[in-house]
Amino acid sequence: MTKRVAVLPGDGIGPEVMEAAVKILQVIGRRFQHTFEIEYGAIGGEAIDKYQNPFPEETIKLCTNSDAVLLGAVGGPKWDNNPPELRPEKGLLALRKHFDLFANLRPVDAILPLLKASPLKEEVAQDVNLLIVRELTGGLYFGEPSKRTEKSAVDTLVYTREEIERIVEKAFQLARLRKGKLTSVDKENVLQSSKLWREVVKEKEKGYPDVEVEHMLVDSAAMQLVTNPGAFDVVVTENMFGDILSDEASVITGSLGIMPSASIGAGGFGVYEPVHGSATQLAGLGKANPAAAILSVAMMLKYTFKLEEEAALLEEAVYAVFDHDHFTEDVASGENRVLSTEEWTEKVIHELDLQSVSDDIMFTYR
Ligand code: IPM
Ligand code: MN
Repeated sequence: MTKRVAVLPGDGIGPEVMEAAVKILQVIGRRFQHTFEIEYGAIGGEAIDKYQNPFPEETIKLCTNSDAVLLGAVGGPKWDNNPPELRPEKGLLALRKHFDLFANLRPVDAILPLLKASPLKEEVAQDVNLLIVRELTGGLYFGEPSKRTEKSAVDTLVYTREEIERIVEKAFQLARLRKGKLTSVDKENVLQSSKLWREVVKEKEKGYPDVEVEHMLVDSAAMQLVTNPGAFDVVVTENMFGDILSDEASVITGSLGIMPSASIGAGGFGVYEPVHGSATQLAGLGKANPAAAILSVAMMLKYTFKLEEEAALLEEAVYAVFDHDHFTEDVASGENRVLSTEEWTEKVIHELDLQSVSDDIMFTYR
């Protein structure tokens, strides 16, 4: 198949991890006879510098003409004092809103060789295999009014029934494909928006008798994520709660540097990006962990292109590299030689090559 992929490297380590992601995508393409047509665009700080706009028309056009988007990261100290409309983050939010990418999927999976880097005890972290489904285009991030004066500031948390219904349905469908458990996280004891949220989940539940549902207050969820994270399967929640819980969940497995994400809407189009930020202190040093970007490619193959086999093979290759004790600095421990972004990417390519030799070889790596 032939697919068009827009690549928006962005700021900080974004370009480095996107280089790795594109290289891997091309290897997958050659291996399975797919053509991925890559075109680059600007977003965030780079776009502010170039177009005085964090999400310029040129980029909108590029993404509109593409089947999927791979995004690096946005932001950096250079733009920290800019006015709100000229903040790099605004570009990311505008991209999500423009394409109505209401569902943000953030999987968190324990990878055994990395658990040494986890702040949690190995026996607590080892069973983690959860998926955060974060609502991405509503709530506090987009509610009006949003303004400030010298003496006060206001943000608005608003959700319509329809907005809740579509994300909750998505979460139920995903839970059905996984372990069949859905945890809906809200603050129903305080917030009106959460009362509506819980009401909608209870209505939708009737259509999914095969999915076990639990409702959890967000403060309790924050606590249980670090005390018993293995008990979760799919977690569905509103925008801001999801932002916070996904950063919290990301440390369970050892590094933010391995967490991929997918932002999808009603159709097949999606934006795929590592959860980590631009980490400007690491930029240009070859120290960035490209795993999150590479695993985001796997999510793109799976969710937008429906290339399940290719996605699974890529995930296998990444896990195999970790199994062979190849690590970038963020997850290496004392005895490991630290690999650069590029060296680590080459290891993944090597694994992909090995896997093409025979199914047996693939087998021994699991
Ligand atoms: C994320 C980020 C963004 C968010 C920022 C950069 C606007 O933290 O993708 O989680 O809050 O959604
Ligand atoms: Mn975040």
